[in-house]
Amino acid sequence: MTRLPFNDPAPAPLPLPGGFAPITQAEFRQFQQLVLKTTGITLSDQKSALVAGRLRSRLRHRKVGSFTAYHKLLQDPREGDELQAAIDLITTNETSFFREPEHFNVLRDHIQNLRPVSFPFKVWSAASSSGEEAYTIAMVLADLFGSAEWRILGTDISTRVLERARKGLYPMERAATIPKDYLQRFCLKGQDRHEGLFLMDRPIRERVTFTQANLCQTLPTFGPFDVAFLRNVLIYFDLPQKRQVVDAVRAQVKPGGLLIVGHSESLTGIAQGLIPLRPTVYRVA
Ligand SMILES: C[S@@+](CC[C@H](N)C(=O)[O-])C[C@H]1O[C@@H](n2cnc3c(N)ncnc32)[C@H](O)[C@@H]1O
Repeated sequence: MTRLPFNDPAPAPLPLPGGFAPITQAEFRQFQQLVLKTTGITLSDQKSALVAGRLRSRLRHRKVGSFTAYHKLLQDPREGDELQAAIDLITTNETSFFREPEHFNVLRDHIQNLRPVSFPFKVWSAASSSGEEAYTIAMVLADLFGSAEWRILGTDISTRVLERARKGLYPMERAATIPKDYLQRFCLKGQDRHEGLFLMDRPIRERVTFTQANLCQTLPTFGPFDVAFLRNVLIYFDLPQKRQVVDAVRAQVKPGGLLIVGHSESLTGIAQGLIPLRPTVYRVA
């Protein structure tokens, strides 16, 4: 890895169409219940073909002939790794650097209005997916704080995406939304066997930790945090589950700190202990 000028990235390749294995309505119901119990995610009835398509490779790999048999296998307490593999496939991990970019201006303004900033300054990316959100926050904090004491925690239910996050190594197309100045300062361009990739630079990676956490189960004490990003995950939960997750995350943010949700998410009726500052941005009371 070396510091070289970054050229404009090539456009992302289009995904290939794929087929789906059949699943009966009764079988899909079993998976809906299992997914709800283990992840808190409510799968709508329209997701049947999607779930079948995503799990088909596991059925083949485990040489089970039906979704009923696969569901039975997942009930076996010795099959924890298989259950994790299924969860990894069922979760939707779409993310990007500087996704919903106004939130990073909100973060910047919040910090600039703090007098004085109390260190260590801690931020939580509470459904971090493959790390783009956590590293975006890290670049903003590195820009503002330099070598002062700041830390970021990224958590997710999917171990597969967390492995990718820990590497901090991404295809060059993903760099398209990172400001050029940040690319030069905080990212390294891949060469030889890393051609076409970029790596978050070590001083950034050292400040970001990733660990698995299920937002729908009792969470360890990670905080208190100055800011929590809880973006684009509440959409998968029903209202009581959403309320429980928002309460649990808010409990780990300092009074006066921020809780930020995704642009398509609403906390109407469940913003207990939160003061709305603008749509999707809340201050902890
Ligand atoms: C669409 S991504 C959002 C990533 C990032 N926050 C963003 O806005 O770009 C949703 C993430 O939530 C995670 N997730 C789903 N259910 C979860 C749960 N119960 N606990 C923790 N993470 C969960 C998924 O694995 C996925 O990586």
